[in-house]
Amino acid sequence: MQMLTDASENCCLFTTGSANQLKTGPIYCFINQTQYYIELIIPLHMAFLLVSAYLLLTHTQGAPVENGALLETLKSQVGLFSNKSEHYSAQVRPPGTSRRIPQTIIIGVRKGGTRALLEMLDIHPNIVVAATEVHFFDWDENYVKGIDWYRSLMPFSYGNQITIEKTPGYFTSPQAPERIHDMNSSIKLLLILRDPTERVISDYTQVYYNRVESHKPVQLFEDIVIKNGALNTKYKAIQRSLYDVHMEKWLKHFSLDQIHIVDGNTLIKDPLPELQKVERFLNLPSRIMSSNFYFNQTKGFYCIRSDGRERCLHESKGRPHPLVNNTVLEQLYSYFKEHNAKFYRMVNHSFDWH
Ligand SMILES: *[C@@H]1O[C@H](CO)[C@@H](O)[C@H](O)[C@H]1NC(C)=O
Ligand SMILES: *[C@@H]1O[C@H](CO)[C@@H](O)[C@H](O)[C@H]1NC(C)=O
Ligand SMILES: *[C@@H]1O[C@H](CO)[C@@H](O)[C@H](O)[C@H]1NC(C)=O
Ligand SMILES: *[C@@H]1O[C@H](CO)[C@@H](O)[C@H](O)[C@H]1NC(C)=O
Ligand SMILES: *[C@@H]1O[C@H](CO)[C@@H](O)[C@H](O)[C@H]1NC(C)=O
Repeated sequence: MQMLTDASENCCLFTTGSANQLKTGPIYCFINQTQYYIELIIPLHMAFLLVSAYLLLTHTQGAPVENGALLETLKSQVGLFSNKSEHYSAQVRPPGTSRRIPQTIIIGVRKGGTRALLEMLDIHPNIVVAATEVHFFDWDENYVKGIDWYRSLMPFSYGNQITIEKTPGYFTSPQAPERIHDMNSSIKLLLILRDPTERVISDYTQVYYNRVESHKPVQLFEDIVIKNGALNTKYKAIQRSLYDVHMEKWLKHFSLDQIHIVDGNTLIKDPLPELQKVERFLNLPSRIMSSNFYFNQTKGFYCIRSDGRERCLHESKGRPHPLVNNTVLEQLYSYFKEHNAKFYRMVNHSFDWH
């Protein structure tokens, strides 16, 4: 396996389905941004709580002016990220709004482009989005906290707005379908998928870099994927790409017309038509426009322009991705072929995956 370094400083690279070619991909830029976003927001949030606590303590002795100023700075820093998406207890509730449980959930798939989809839907005035991945239905320790805990993490919304939460882990979670059904049996679900082989490589790459960053040993892609000359179908990243297996569980609880599938490969190349399909699925007026996107030639992907702000969501630097052995790629393609065909029949729709 060769490692390619991203010499052009593009935010991120991924291997396209067509073998060993590297292209820039916006989806990763958005995903990388999530990490940045969470890493930055959480410390800010904690800092804010600390300052609040300090102010409370010093209040009786007459709170110093500097602390008030610091508080304002922190507030404005938090506000800088998004006026729509924040879910901080510090946020003042705008009159006429409340926190609502989501009417729509982006259930996955991991590395499918869920962050890109969420950020792009956030352009719509009738949509508000939860800032972080909540992991309510897939993590037992969160699920036991109950629906009020879940609701408390949602942003404030007006009655004509749809609240959307995204947690990519839901799609492959055995418990999530039934739990979501228990909350709202008529909920509308969004599922963004991409070529299953591409998804496996992307999944591997994310884990690879997480391990490198935390100084843990790493393995070559081929050494994980091939065991004794055969495909290691127990590898979690391969399991997650068995869309038919997971979809079957969702269709036990929901009808097909409650689940809209977004083509992640298309969303990256040409976002608007995919987003317009989502608007129709959610019965929302068409508000997302081509003027909300501009192609950054240097970066090679679309950025978002909305509310007078431009967001490229590509804070992280380029990361090398593996160039996968062709024989191994072919083995993956042929393994997924049957599963894909089954999935197409299940959802009555074909995708141009390998
Ligand atoms: C958030 O809203 C406040 C008040 O409505 C406004 O002053 C500020 O510019 C907004 N921030 C962003 C990033 O839109
Ligand atoms: C359940 O979901 C549907 C579809 O999004 C929505 O219209 C309805 O308001 C939701 N019910 C509750 C209680 O959130
Ligand atoms: C486009 O990408 C380049 C290269 O990273 C960056 O410097 C520039 O700010 C971007 N331009 C816009 C308009 O987003
Ligand atoms: C790819 O892997 C196969 C065995 O799985 C090996 O025979 C072949 O030489 C490898 N190709 C390259 C270009 O490394
Ligand atoms: C499958 O899709 C076709 C159009 O693409 C439609 O005519 C047909 O009714 C669908 N079948 C089911 C069972 O949804």
